[in-house]
Order: sequence, then structure tokens, then C-alpha cells
Amino acid sequence: MIHSWLERNSILLLIGIICVIAVGGAVEIAPLFWVGGTVEKVSGMRPYTPLELEGRNIYVREGCYVCHSQQIRTLRDEVERYGHYSLAAESMYDHPFQWGSERTGPDLARVGGKYSDQWHKGHLIDPRSVVPESIMPPYKFLFSTPLDYRDVQALLKTNREVGVPYTDEQIARAKEDLVAQADPDGDGVEAFEKRYAKVQARNFDGNGAQVTEGAALIAYLQMLGTLIDFKTYHADAPENRR
Ligand code: HEC
Repeated sequence: MIHSWLERNSILLLIGIICVIAVGGAVEIAPLFWVGGTVEKVSGMRPYTPLELEGRNIYVREGCYVCHSQQIRTLRDEVERYGHYSLAAESMYDHPFQWGSERTGPDLARVGGKYSDQWHKGHLIDPRSVVPESIMPPYKFLFSTPLDYRDVQALLKTNREVGVPYTDEQIARAKEDLVAQADPDGDGVEAFEKRYAKVQARNFDGNGAQVTEGAALIAYLQMLGTLIDFKTYHADAPENRR
């Protein structure tokens, strides 16, 4: 009854349509206001160091995400191959996140520590030198291109604008920290290690003369998946609850 009456009255039908769409819209939009509460804090996660952040920029610039995901699903085959499934907290400092939707190559969410720096360098210069059947393109130029980090402070600041909790000190010392991580023989390493927990500081590409784009990229890759200690992590532990 109501149906045929509504369908014959265009104004009422229009009002009805608007009401239905409004309810549907509200149901989709409302949860976004509480989305912050869905990311559980997990101990170990920290903002990226300046060098890692620069390396991450190169990862994005070169489109590594086109072939590599950074998201281990809860499925058994994935967990057995790559390790513990990815937690939301692990990408909470990623702007934009690098989950990816394509796996031409393997997932990289926990690639940190899996290989040596030399392996990564050799692999990036010529993937087929270490994995003969690889179809990954070579990125040799990264190791002869000096890293341009003149704007690294602005990079940290921009990340803080969108919610990454960098301190004033971390921003002010970004350049020193970048150099200290890439060249641990310098003076700034101790101060740098105080500002960032669980860091790896070393000459990532064996080039003592300059910090290259390749070194920054390897620093980023070697950090991936290493911040949370999954030997002690339990999803239900009180410190992992908000
Ligand atoms: C055209 C697709 C493609 C692109 C683009 C690509 N890769 Fe790969 N990558 C692969 C494939 C396929 C493999 C597996 C074979 C191998 O190890 O080379 C791989 C393997 C890897 C591995 C080893 C992973 C493991 O667990 O064994 C790393 C690390 C890696 N790629 C990093 C990168 C980085 C960094 C970039 C961007 C600079 C990149 N890849 C761009 C296809 C790609």
C-alpha cells in the first residue's frame, strides 16, 4: 500500500530516498570519529629515525609498493612464511601507509634483519646476482646518488603535523641524527641513540665518503618489523591495552 502510494508521489519518494541515504551515510561516517581508538598502543613502536624516514621516501618514490606489500594477514600460510601477522600499531606512523595490494615480490613487513646489509646492496644493485630467477628491476644508481637531506627537518615537522609524536629536540637535531646513524664513528651516536629507542647505527652501504640514497633505503628495510618484540608480545597483555 504505502509502497505504491510513495512511488506515485515524486516529492515524497525523494524525501524517502534522502532519508535512507542519510542513514546509510551516517553508518559509514560515524565510526571514523572513533577510529583512533582502534589502534592499540604496543610497546616498542617509535617514530622513524630521520635516516629511516628518508629511506622510506625513496621506497615510495621508486614505487617499491607496486610489487611489495607490507601487511602480513592472519592466515596461517602467511604467518608461517613471514612471521607474526601485522598489527595496526606497526603502521601508525606511516603517512601514507605501505600496505600495498600487490605481491609480485614477497611481503616486506618483517624483512628487517633477515639479510645482511651487503646482501641488500648486492640485491638492489643487481637482483639476479643473488636470486637468479628474480624479476625485480635493478636500482644501482641509488648507491652512487648522494642522499639529499637538506629538508629533513621539514620532513619530520610535516609528519608531526599529521600526528607522529616527534619532539622539538628530534626535529632540531634531525640532520645530526641522520649523519650519526649512517656514520657511527662520528660523535653524535650516543645522543642519537638516546633520542630513538632500538636503533641500528652503522655504515649501511660501506661507503665512507657520503650518505647515499641506497644507505637510507637499507636502513629503512633493516628496521622493518624489528621494533616490536614478538617473543614478549601478547595481544591480551595489559600493557597492550589502552
Ligand atoms: C617489478 C616488481 C618489483 C619492484 C618494483 C620491486 N621489487 Fe623487490 N622483489 C621483487 C621480486 C619478484 C622479488 C623476489 C625475488 C628476489 O628476491 O629478487 C623481490 C624481492 C625483494 C626483497 C627480498 C625479500 C625477501 O624476503 O626475500 C627485497 C628486500 C626487495 N625486493 C626490496 C625492494 C625494494 C626496496 C624495491 C624498491 C626500490 C623493490 N623491491 C622493488 C619484485 C619487485
